Amino acid sequence: MDDMSQASNLGLSDAGLLKTGAYIDGKWVEAVSGETFTVDNPVNGDTLATLAYCGADETKRAVDAANAAQPAWAAKTPKERAKHLRDLFNVMMANQADLARILTLEQGKPLAESMGEIAYGANYIEWFAEEAKRIYGEVMTQPSPDKRVVVIRQPVGVAALITPWNFPNAMLTRKIAPALAAGCTVVCKPASETPLSALAIAELCDRAGIPPGVVNVVCGDTRAIGGELTSNPIVKKLSFTGSTQVGKILTEQCVGTLKRLSMELGGNAPFIIFEDGDLDLAVKGVMASKFRNAGQTCVCTNRILVHESVKDAFVEKLLAATNALKVGNGMDEGVDLGPLVSAKARKTVDEFVEDAVSKGAKVHEGPSTPNGDCYSRPLVLTDATRDMRVFSEEIFGPVAPVFTFKTDEEAIQLANDTEFGLASYFYSKDVARCWRIAEALEYGMVGINEGIISNEMAPFGGVKESGQGREGSHHGLDDYLEIKSLTFGGI
Ligand code: SIN
Repeated sequence: MDDMSQASNLGLSDAGLLKTGAYIDGKWVEAVSGETFTVDNPVNGDTLATLAYCGADETKRAVDAANAAQPAWAAKTPKERAKHLRDLFNVMMANQADLARILTLEQGKPLAESMGEIAYGANYIEWFAEEAKRIYGEVMTQPSPDKRVVVIRQPVGVAALITPWNFPNAMLTRKIAPALAAGCTVVCKPASETPLSALAIAELCDRAGIPPGVVNVVCGDTRAIGGELTSNPIVKKLSFTGSTQVGKILTEQCVGTLKRLSMELGGNAPFIIFEDGDLDLAVKGVMASKFRNAGQTCVCTNRILVHESVKDAFVEKLLAATNALKVGNGMDEGVDLGPLVSAKARKTVDEFVEDAVSKGAKVHEGPSTPNGDCYSRPLVLTDATRDMRVFSEEIFGPVAPVFTFKTDEEAIQLANDTEFGLASYFYSKDVARCWRIAEALEYGMVGINEGIISNEMAPFGGVKESGQGREGSHHGLDDYLEIKSLTFGGI
């Protein structure tokens, strides 16, 4: 079936946004082997599209194309690069409804959430279009009377961008935008579960007039594509969002060519409610943070830590809010949670619950789900304890375990007792406590009386085994720039 017939099945108003080839050097190409793979709807397993299954050969061609395009792209003025990014922002927003539809169909999240993700993703493009014009150098202190030192910042070169299935649009734009603003060219490898969003972005890059070779997208054999991207000496930088386990493997693979790395990895977010916290606000924050994308974000609340004196009141409110959720097909009106991305993901969540129950947790089941292998029922676990897997591992599903603590020291100790350090949240009305706790939490991001912390203006990233580097904000550019010092003598 050609792209147009496949697109008509998806109900897109612009059929040209469904792409099934690889995007290399401004052209849509098939896999050299002729092999294909399918992308399926997690609601019912129906095939949405059949795509070119690419490997190392196509990836190498994409890297060569990015390398050939890089000098001319870097030589454009920042204002010219900014204009291309601004045009990309405009075409993305003009096609928001179709992009959201593609996203929901391949990933499962509710359509309203997908509309939000497209705007979130486009905001990074807009932000870095503006930041492109603010890549400044520095004049340093002079080391001796006859010398002057100046610092300039230059693009790293060709960047490989490997992105996950949970935010198929925004995780890619959050990398493409700073890379292009800095003067880098890119080769993107989206997750095999959700590549259609990335291919639609490539099509929009073309429509925005971004020159051939500046953005390339290759889908298919994850190992072969990843192997080429991490070993090819032309690739100077790798930016990855995904699990800590895979981040470590990619880091090892990059050692041979010592690539610059940005790693946005797993989390184990604590959500602390102190005895003086506003419980209604805290429940609102937990609901937003825990159940966003059905619990499948790396900044989702993983452990709710509540002061023992307010536990009963908090749990009562949390159960009422959880029971009011609606689970179903993300394309249907009023749905809050769609299916998980796959049946395997649902099974993993079930195992977390079984482990907790076997160790004494009490289950409070939330709303029922439609039939389907990928649906996971939202639920709250009380009497949760540290020996349960939900304390130490990332759940990535709609399960909310509640732990209790007695003192601030104990809350901090529980919160920091993990190898992860991405997002954390706490609720208190005491300003002095807010400062103390925020400083003591070993996390890259802290939400204080707030459950949603992601936006293009704030640096996003973690410490410890949650990764390195920052995305968004003006710091997001640093990951794609080299610092060069120029020492002028004989003055
Ligand atoms: C992620 O889950 O990787 C990112 C979530 C976000 O951007 O808020």
